[in-house]
Amino acid sequence: MNPQELESYLISVRRHLHQYPELSNHEFETTKSIETWLKELAIPIRNTDLKTGVFADIKGGKPGPIVAIRADIDALPIEEKTGLPYASKIKGVMHACGHDFHTAALIGAAYLLKENLSQLNGSVRLIFQPAEELGGGAQHVIKDGQLDGVEAIIGLHNKPELPVGTIGIKEGPLMAAVDRFQIVLYGKGSHAALPQNGNDPIVGAGQLITALQTIVSRNVSPLHSAVVSVTKIIGGSTWNVIPGEVSLEGTIRTFDPMIREEVKAKFYNIVNSIAAAFSQEAEISWFPGPPPLVNHNSVTDIVKRAAEKQSLEVIHPNLSTAGEDFSYYLLHCPGHFAFFGTNGNEDWHHPEFTIDESAILKAAYFLYESARELLESQAIS
Ligand code: NI
Repeated sequence: MNPQELESYLISVRRHLHQYPELSNHEFETTKSIETWLKELAIPIRNTDLKTGVFADIKGGKPGPIVAIRADIDALPIEEKTGLPYASKIKGVMHACGHDFHTAALIGAAYLLKENLSQLNGSVRLIFQPAEELGGGAQHVIKDGQLDGVEAIIGLHNKPELPVGTIGIKEGPLMAAVDRFQIVLYGKGSHAALPQNGNDPIVGAGQLITALQTIVSRNVSPLHSAVVSVTKIIGGSTWNVIPGEVSLEGTIRTFDPMIREEVKAKFYNIVNSIAAAFSQEAEISWFPGPPPLVNHNSVTDIVKRAAEKQSLEVIHPNLSTAGEDFSYYLLHCPGHFAFFGTNGNEDWHHPEFTIDESAILKAAYFLYESARELLESQAIS
């Protein structure tokens, strides 16, 4: 295929995925399609115990290390409202985070790697990862042994606010650690007119929400950042009864593992202390998500070189307070996660989210070139 033919092919791949999106851990048809496309390229597929996801190795002409390229493949429970001719045909499910774009780009990189085998000093492992949106897919891939022997890993996420032809490349932290919490505050119910007979958890919850905001404003250095958001509160059933309990839920985002621990400790301290001050009891449930995504310097330099070779405009991206489970891979081996300009009209997870498809071929070449440069480089450490 010449570049125009490859571009049309990758657009058709992306549109197929876009029309048939599947939720996390249910990417069965997506898995079958990816396997078919790889078989058409005569790329052997690796064994896996996972029910969804595809893993494959492309062995180069010369012996050398293994580097991995990862794309995520799952969609979201969102009803698509783009009105595009190739909009989702699956009710209530949409590729609203552009993982169809990532998958198509990796198919393109696979094609280019296969076409240029003689130039590869080692092997490239393709990781089509399931269940990124649940934050657990990467961990399952690692447990399944798909990162064994891999010396460096790269990946990308589309970035709607960046124009096509630009790429955000940054060493160090890029995306946030994601923690979720639930609190149940137990007081004592009573008649609304006789509060002295009860112990009002709504008042306790009010104090709690206000106090939690001081973690970021008074405990985290102004030179660092964190987010504490209480996003859900349930308590009470009517206007003249003080309820016995109130439940709260929310999320905490941080970029530094130490700050993550400090914020968590402060959170527990505030919740328990305020509950104690009101003679109430707090039950805290903590659900740790992916760690912060921290890019490694050595791989970042190589990826940047590959991007410049492609005449992509390299920009320094802003930190994203969203999470990304690619961060788990970066705890196992050096790597880089880039933001790829796709000139969208809406941000991730929006029912009208779109991407400019002219970015697909560029992303495929970028992944191919980065993997090739990584294999060539002695800088992998
Ligand atoms: Ni995403």
